[in-house]
Amino acid sequence: MSESRFKKILVTGGAGYVGTSLVPELLKNGYKVRVFDNLRYGGDGLLHYFSDKNFEFVKGDIRDKKAVEKAVEGTDAVIHLACIVGFPACKKEPELSREINVGGTKNLVEATNGRAPIFFASTGSTYGQLKEDLCTENTPVNPLSDYGKHKVEAEEIIKNGNKGEYVIYRYATAFGVSGRMRLDLLPNDFTYRAVKEKSLILYEKTFLRTFIHVRDMAKSFLFALENYDKMKGEIYNVGDNSMNCSKEDLAKMIREKVDYYLHFADVGHDIDQRDYMVSYEKISSLGFRTTITLQEGIDELIKAAEALEVRNSYSNV
Ligand SMILES: NC(=O)c1ccc[n+]([C@@H]2O[C@H](COP(=O)([O-])OP(=O)(O)OC[C@H]3O[C@@H](n4cnc5c(N)ncnc54)[C@H](O)[C@@H]3O)[C@@H](O)[C@H]2O)c1
Repeated sequence: MSESRFKKILVTGGAGYVGTSLVPELLKNGYKVRVFDNLRYGGDGLLHYFSDKNFEFVKGDIRDKKAVEKAVEGTDAVIHLACIVGFPACKKEPELSREINVGGTKNLVEATNGRAPIFFASTGSTYGQLKEDLCTENTPVNPLSDYGKHKVEAEEIIKNGNKGEYVIYRYATAFGVSGRMRLDLLPNDFTYRAVKEKSLILYEKTFLRTFIHVRDMAKSFLFALENYDKMKGEIYNVGDNSMNCSKEDLAKMIREKVDYYLHFADVGHDIDQRDYMVSYEKISSLGFRTTITLQEGIDELIKAAEALEVRNSYSNV
């Protein structure tokens, strides 16, 4: 059971990849949970929790100010996940993603107005391409993609609008299996390709990235709820120093477990030019540690690949 003073938590975007790992952790720790989500990717990942008396679901759009005001009522903390996530999705629908990622955050802050703290899932994409060797929370932000830019704007809205009642988490890239699965995250994508397609063409192989298991992301929110008084009003990088590695290291880690063809290409370019080492000293000095390694996550992803099938609707096979 939790030690926290918060009782009822609103989780925006709680039907997504992170949300469907977070909701069970919150319920297990005695919180009442209200998920607010427009079910852009469906709600199957939450079905299991509808029988729990402490679970409530509200279908709504974060762009709808009135609906957000109503969703906040009766809750004493908000975990804000609702978002169009990642640079390719934001690039595909630039106006919509800005309305959701920036405008939706503004609606939320206007609804809470400092009465409830906001725990915000931001990202290391805010740092963009780095000039420094090690990225800390004091490193200036320099987002390259619309996604990173939206997150910086949303952070500012929360910092300036919620009367100091917030914790901002800049996460590493998530990996692992969750109720709403995502295969567009680097470790999940590489492992799926290795198992199913038996090959991977890798460019920008030396680029350094940093990772965190999705259940450790969930645990980091529990940690913030329990340690709010000493964490409030601050930004934290969230991940683990041991999970800073290159794309090549990641691909080779998978090859230790799956026999597949790995080709390093000279051409190919990611819009999100993240190539950085991140320091997690600030949050670890407060006692937060991740619990699941990249190797353990890869094992889990290999097992899950058996149960996952991405279908091509233009092919008969
Ligand atoms: N997964 C990662 O690697 C990672 C890393 C850093 C930060 N984050 C952040 O964590 C949060 C959750 O990410 P995720 O991986 O679960 O993504 P996801 O796409 O699986 O989940 C996003 C959820 O938001 C909901 N949503 C989208 N538009 C909405 C709207 N207009 N109104 C209400 N709900 C809406 C979707 O239906 C979905 O359930 C995001 O804010 C993301 O930026 C994720």
